[in-house]
Amino acid sequence: MGTRNRIYIHTWGCQMNEHKSEGIAGLLVREGFEVAQRPEDADVVIFNTCMVREKAEDKVYSEAGLIRGLKETKPELLLGIGGCMAQALGKKIFKHSPAVDFIFGSSNISDIPELIREAQRRNGQRNGSSVMAVSTIPDRIEELPFVRRSSFQAKVTITEGCSNFCSFCIVPYTTGLLRSRLPGDILREVTQLVDQGYKEVQLLGQNVDSYGNDLDDPDIDFANLLRALTRIEIPRIRFTSSHPKDITSGVIEVLSEENNVCEHVHMAVQSGSDRVLREMRRGYTREEFLELVHQLKSRVPGINITTDIIVGFPTETESDFFETADLVEKARFGGAFIFKYSPRPGTISYYKHPDTVPLEEKQRRLEHLLHVQKRITDEENRAWVRRTVEILVEGRARTSLGRYLGKTRDSKTVLFPGRPEMIGTFAKVAVEDAGASGLFGRVVS
Ligand code: SAM
Ligand code: SF4
Ligand code: F3S
Repeated sequence: MGTRNRIYIHTWGCQMNEHKSEGIAGLLVREGFEVAQRPEDADVVIFNTCMVREKAEDKVYSEAGLIRGLKETKPELLLGIGGCMAQALGKKIFKHSPAVDFIFGSSNISDIPELIREAQRRNGQRNGSSVMAVSTIPDRIEELPFVRRSSFQAKVTITEGCSNFCSFCIVPYTTGLLRSRLPGDILREVTQLVDQGYKEVQLLGQNVDSYGNDLDDPDIDFANLLRALTRIEIPRIRFTSSHPKDITSGVIEVLSEENNVCEHVHMAVQSGSDRVLREMRRGYTREEFLELVHQLKSRVPGINITTDIIVGFPTETESDFFETADLVEKARFGGAFIFKYSPRPGTISYYKHPDTVPLEEKQRRLEHLLHVQKRITDEENRAWVRRTVEILVEGRARTSLGRYLGKTRDSKTVLFPGRPEMIGTFAKVAVEDAGASGLFGRVVS
């Protein structure tokens, strides 16, 4: 691979993209690269990008501008942009950002080493041009040698792509239709992770409940996969995201019966208005969603339900928005990611509706919901004060000197005074205080 052998990877977007970057790192390490911690120390910078909102796209271009600055003192530095944004925009990226040397689509991970070689060759020539690989034929995930960032928590992709085509969402266009891995391959991977000492696996898919829908075997579904995974000796199994239209009673049963499945469901509601939900093509009503919340809370004691919400979807009226605020009060989510609608070229709602809700109004609705949710999260968290929780210690808290942080089974963040050797172990923490940001306590064992 010549003399350039350090890569720096910056990842935007969802957990699945984070995991994909672990695959890119693994592939390049196998090719002889080392991983650099800062772009300044790298010979090749890779941006693994997201396209889900316009803001994500803007950030990539502004970061590319910074790399362009670095190239002035280090002309041999290469910049590659890949992932969802590259899949959607292809060579338009070169026009927007002249610092880019190569582009790879979200299905072209295995092409990266060759793209780097070719970009290096062209970079050595006068007037060297850029290279690109964007295809629609999916990579085989089984062939990626993942280098995981954690030695005790592992992300495991169970499905790629999404066939739902919610009207606002670019993901099916950037990642392709649903593709489920075979149960045997997933079971083998998790077994190997346990042998390597991993204590928690997080199963990933845009809609984990659609697992198996593309395979020709009625026995392959998410509930059966989850049940089979619980037989492996791993203390914690998590999964994300769940889709309200697809969660089955079988999945709720596994959640309620199996000790090693954590009591957390991330289930995006998006809106509390039936009219808006229909326009979004979500496939459920507010009543069905609230009934599901009720089922989960009554059958899985202590469950934490978190969600995503979009405000300012085209045509969303004040009364639609009040229905969302009302649903948030009723569902009492443990937390919520709230987004302003961002029109994405290529999606159904982009062509069907102009972006009717003014930005200031989206901002007002966003702040109102954030305020409501913060109060609810604060109240839900305070209910844990004077109780003892089991946490998996993840590391030092970045914002609080001398404190460490861990996660409860139901995915709440706990801060406590700790020691470096606790990282990667389970601890019992007596909760002394709580707020919207999490729980605070001290280790008791
Ligand atoms: N597959 C997940 C699901 O359906 O629950 C969602 C994955 S998406 C990457 C994460 C979140 O981004 C969505 O739940 C939605 O709230 C938000 N999102 C997607 N498209 C958006 C858009 N055009 N504007 C604003 N937010 C958007
Ligand atoms: Fe996007 Fe809907 Fe698929 Fe989630 S389920 S990734 S929101 S199309
Ligand atoms: Fe973004 Fe692609 Fe994930 S668009 S949210 S990185 S699947």
